[in-house]
Amino acid sequence: MTEFSTVCCIFIIFSVLNSQLDAQPNKLVQVGVYYEALCPDSIDFIVEQLWLAYKKVRSIFEVDLVPYGKAWEKQLKNGTWVFQCQHGREECYGNLVQTCAVCLLNNTDLSLPFVHCAMSSSHPQSAGPMCARKLNIDYRPIEKCLTSDQGNRWQHEMGKKTESQKPHITFIPRVVINGVYSKLNQEKALRNFLGLVCENYKGPKPVECPAVKDDSL
Ligand SMILES: *[C@@H]1O[C@H](CO)[C@@H](O)[C@H](O)[C@H]1NC(C)=O
Ligand SMILES: *[C@@H]1O[C@H](CO)[C@@H](O)[C@H](O)[C@H]1NC(C)=O
Repeated sequence: MTEFSTVCCIFIIFSVLNSQLDAQPNKLVQVGVYYEALCPDSIDFIVEQLWLAYKKVRSIFEVDLVPYGKAWEKQLKNGTWVFQCQHGREECYGNLVQTCAVCLLNNTDLSLPFVHCAMSSSHPQSAGPMCARKLNIDYRPIEKCLTSDQGNRWQHEMGKKTESQKPHITFIPRVVINGVYSKLNQEKALRNFLGLVCENYKGPKPVECPAVKDDSL
């Protein structure tokens, strides 16, 4: 094959790949939320911004909840991870309850209402059983997870995901759109998350989306 036809070939392959990407304009917006259970800014974001968008335009985005925040961890000789949290032991407990819920429920329509309920309560770290009751979720597997090796590994996974964020996290919550952090999106997320999700959705906008491009965004 001549160099020219190789280049041509590569070009055609790229064009085909590109048109396949273009062919899915209705791809859901992927939102990553890195937060911690007792952080006032995390609570504000989840209770106000995230929940409003969930209520209004749930069909256009997927959310990945990562409860860990500015915690740190070390591994004991026997393999168990030990965590310390920015707001102390209570926060570590709250993070673990939400980690177990997110991993066990494995379904945004169950885990987000659970996390929203806990974060709305005056004691997010101990609201688990009450929220489970309210939402008709069986709390027993979550409770079992809290003291299990599996729960410990899941919390470590949340830690790894958080630590591997680029650039390194300095402010919690961090909100990431489609896997890429941008300072502008982060700032928009805390003020007008609904608008941000709508803006990033390439398909037909739901009527609940702000009608005109909001300059205050
Ligand atoms: C490892 O040691 C810690 C502290 O002694 C203990 O709490 C934990 O259950 C142990 N983990 C395993 C897997 O045995
Ligand atoms: C979580 O759900 C997805 C799709 O809904 C499924 O593919 C995956 O196997 C589930 N994971 C677990 C651990 O149940």
